[in-house]
Amino acid sequence: MQDKLLESLRHAQGYLPPEQLCQRLGVSRQALWQEIAGLRRLGYGIVAVPHLGLRMESAPDRLYPFEVASGLHTRLIGKQIHYLKTVASTMDVAMELAGKAAAEGTVVVAETQTRGRGRLGRQWLSPRYRGLYFSVILRPDIPPTHTAVLTLLAGVAVAEAVARCSGVDVSIKWPNDILIAGRKAGGILTELRQELDAVQVAVIGVGLNVNTAVHELPAHATSIAHALGGPPRRVDRVALLQEILRAVEENYVLLQKKGAGCVLEKWRGMAATLGARVKVAAGREHVEAVAVDIDADGGLLVRCDSGEIRKFMAGDVLHL
Ligand code: BTN
Repeated sequence: MQDKLLESLRHAQGYLPPEQLCQRLGVSRQALWQEIAGLRRLGYGIVAVPHLGLRMESAPDRLYPFEVASGLHTRLIGKQIHYLKTVASTMDVAMELAGKAAAEGTVVVAETQTRGRGRLGRQWLSPRYRGLYFSVILRPDIPPTHTAVLTLLAGVAVAEAVARCSGVDVSIKWPNDILIAGRKAGGILTELRQELDAVQVAVIGVGLNVNTAVHELPAHATSIAHALGGPPRRVDRVALLQEILRAVEENYVLLQKKGAGCVLEKWRGMAATLGARVKVAAGREHVEAVAVDIDADGGLLVRCDSGEIRKFMAGDVLHL
């Protein structure tokens, strides 16, 4: 009933007479007003004008699952959406759901995280209602050695979606940083459950600073709204999340149908790392070299000053 009512209000040309709505939804007048009151409590601006009817004037800046699902039009990613106002980390919830046989493509999204995490045990700050913090459950048919490709795939999807939605130019730092004007605006975290030589579950976590003010972020980080500059502009987080989910699906289908080649080629076109002189910190090792390419499994290939080509599957990259 809530979904249908919202759908009707969203697509109405003008005011909708309550009796027309009651008829369309097959509910009593009392039930309709109760539902309207519920939507107003969720933050929807719904006006009722005598003799004219009801009209939705504003929708709240919330990632409600019925908002994200409306007009999403994906086949897999986001068919199930779990929405949490506050959570420790969407990664844990997604992994737990995956363990309970949640469908591939299930999304867990939160308005804030109290223990959001990044790679290498780092913290991911998640100011409430400002950014996108979500995890997607995948069950990819790829060997564990190639899971780095999933991180790159998610990076490509986020970069494509941000560019489509905001026009902001985005690049990617290997393996998982989403950069705007050289500053970190987002990151991807991939966590796996694997058995022997097969990946059972991959949970892809995405954190993106959308409408976050820079003073709420760590030093050297940025947000999409900040990059847009000018008078403060709020980016539509629902539309952006939808676009990211569509882009994840597009690229995931590409990976399944054509192999990793196409996705890696797109990644190369967005990479800030390739061609750059970098310092790679992997465990105790620190290597200064020029990043030359990525391998078929998503590993980073660098050329050391000695001419030797080395490959890294994990590590921290500093652009020098
Ligand atoms: C990184 O840059 O190191 C990766 C950051 C990933 C953050 C996201 S926010 C949603 C999901 N939940 C988490 O705890 N982490 C990921």
